[in-house]
Amino acid sequence: MVSKDWKVIGIDAMTDYYDVGLKQARHKILKLNNKFFGYEGLIQDQRLLDNIYNEHKPNIIIHLAAQPGVRYSIENPQSYIDSNILGSFYIFELAKKFKPDHLLIGSTSSVYGNSDNLPFHENQKSDMPISLYAATKKSNEILAHSYSHLFSIPTTIFRFFTVYGPWGRPDMALFKFTKNILSKLPIDIYNYGNMERDFTNINDLVEAINLLIDVIPICPEKRKNIIPNDSLSNTAPYRIVNIGNSNSVNLLKYVEELENALKKKAIKNFIQAQKGDLMKTSSDITLLKNLTGFKPTIKLRDGIQEFVAWYISYYKENIY
Ligand SMILES: NC(=O)c1ccc[n+]([C@@H]2O[C@H](COP(=O)([O-])OP(=O)(O)OC[C@H]3O[C@@H](n4cnc5c(N)ncnc54)[C@H](O)[C@@H]3O)[C@@H](O)[C@H]2O)c1
Repeated sequence: MVSKDWKVIGIDAMTDYYDVGLKQARHKILKLNNKFFGYEGLIQDQRLLDNIYNEHKPNIIIHLAAQPGVRYSIENPQSYIDSNILGSFYIFELAKKFKPDHLLIGSTSSVYGNSDNLPFHENQKSDMPISLYAATKKSNEILAHSYSHLFSIPTTIFRFFTVYGPWGRPDMALFKFTKNILSKLPIDIYNYGNMERDFTNINDLVEAINLLIDVIPICPEKRKNIIPNDSLSNTAPYRIVNIGNSNSVNLLKYVEELENALKKKAIKNFIQAQKGDLMKTSSDITLLKNLTGFKPTIKLRDGIQEFVAWYISYYKENIY
């Protein structure tokens, strides 16, 4: 967004779910741009949100703050309720009060549960989550719908599919695998490798978000041309859009690409599936294409190479 020459206000609590140093390093890059204003704080802090809003008066809210991770939601459920349910509630209250032109919210492919109705389409049933993380994200989608209906808040929900790339989360497979392969440690291959993911490159994801900012859902009574199979609500200016690569890859193929990029072999530890993990994800991105004309283009091989180059340069003193 800062590259669009927009003024961008960021709020992040810098939670210690993973290395805060990595979060601070990302933040430092953003702060190099004088159109970026960063605040450290919880979205549950209503006074902080109000003060920031009053000072900057942004017209768009992009709500991405969350406690992520499927496995950690079994260990520490409270943090999901705090950030994802309560935190989001305060974002909705903020939107109710200040009426942004568009509220955009990050959700997840996890809401589709272990459905075998693949590829996942926005309009299919998605109310049987198999992890608390997914349940909190689905709750967000539903709460956002009620606010959108009651207070006419134009709202877009993004359902992201396994995002990867430089500066990504250290609890995710690509990061953990890279770290262990470089340290000659085994990597855990869940469900004995029988898993598929629709890996989505961060640059494609950002491009999709950028384009969707301008695709503002319209109230039902004002709509003229409706795209076939649009996920628009019948009662609110509200839409859900999958953002995926639409090309599912087996986990072992993913590891092979990483081994090629690192020019090193992994020591594979084949283990059973983790509770809460989906077996397969695959996105139908017809709606994204119809709304924006955009389709992700970055090949997995190129994306993994870019990640590895970033990882090695970022951790250059601490690897091997
Ligand atoms: N990475 C993926 O593959 C993926 C897939 C699907 C959905 N998502 C969603 O995308 C969004 C971004 O996820 P990410 O993977 O970049 O994770 P991330 O942890 O890197 O980013 C989330 C940020 O939110 C902050 N945060 C957490 N709770 C907060 C709170 N209560 N108040 C203020 N800040 C808070 C954290 O400090 C963190 O920096 C999340 O909504 C997540 O659910 C991510």
